[in-house]
Amino acid sequence: MARRHDRPSTEPYAAGPHAAGPYATGAYGGGPYTEQGARPAIELRGVRRTYGRGAETVHALRGIDLALARGTFTAVMGPSGSGKSTFLQCAAGLDKPDQGEIRLGGEDITRLSEDRLTKLRRSRIGFIFQSFNLLPSLTVEQNVLLPQRLAGERQDRARARELLAQVGLGEHAKRRPGQLSGGQQQRVAIARALITDPDVVFADEPTGALDTRTAHEVLGLLRRAVDDLGATVVMVTHDPVAASFADRALFLAGGALVDELHHPQAQAVADRMVSLTARPVGVAA
Ligand SMILES: Nc1ncnc2c1ncn2[C@@H]1O[C@H](COP(=O)(O)OP(=O)(O)O)[C@@H](O)[C@H]1O
Ligand SMILES: [Mg+2]
Repeated sequence: MARRHDRPSTEPYAAGPHAAGPYATGAYGGGPYTEQGARPAIELRGVRRTYGRGAETVHALRGIDLALARGTFTAVMGPSGSGKSTFLQCAAGLDKPDQGEIRLGGEDITRLSEDRLTKLRRSRIGFIFQSFNLLPSLTVEQNVLLPQRLAGERQDRARARELLAQVGLGEHAKRRPGQLSGGQQQRVAIARALITDPDVVFADEPTGALDTRTAHEVLGLLRRAVDDLGATVVMVTHDPVAASFADRALFLAGGALVDELHHPQAQAVADRMVSLTARPVGVAA
């Protein structure tokens, strides 16, 4: 199985209800998933982020409290300017909050040095971007291995091949990104995001550049990475259909978490978005 076992043995891998999917081999580590014993994959406590000062101050995040369990798929939604990008950047250690604390796999990352944070991002966080962000000069396989290379870890080619097979690109390992369609490139990015077995995979509008059918394929792969590999995915999206692949949709407005839907249906998400967009600007719940 592609999932590695070099994390503390206390990590509760959730086998999920769909263990017969293409990622499954039945060889999960860890014991049964218990909610009480489980350390969240990521936790935000009282996270605030402001830009500017004085009369110009923008409260991009007004105190976010959130804990996401391992093996869950969360969609973060909200109108433009509601704080989605700031949330993602703070949670992923790309930006520092002014107040509050962020814990990744139980470790407080808020006070780490830039050096430590850079290393941590390479090995413990996976990123999937709207624009794929593959390196054109590297082969598909080299792109998938890049996080391990940058982290100075052993490059696990067998695991890269296995992940590529799991995203349906087993035959394309030696190609360059320019020889692939957009959907195929995003599938490479998914394999790349999973290669280090990160605590959390952050996806920023991962289907924003894809047509509907291709978007569904990519979302289905993210879903299966969660269900079959026990990955933890946090996805920012504008798209209610994309959100419907998640276990939970969180709604940001004016820098605060104002609502959530469990097992979100696209129509319910769309309705919620309409009511949020109708809120007066600057009013946080
Ligand atoms: N670098 C910045 N400097 C000043 N204001 C910013 C900066 N980045 C974001 N903001 C402001 O913070 C708020 C939240 O922005 P953002 O997190 O980008 O929201 P979203 O991604 O939901 O559109 C907005 O009012 C935005 O204008
Ligand atoms: Mg944004």
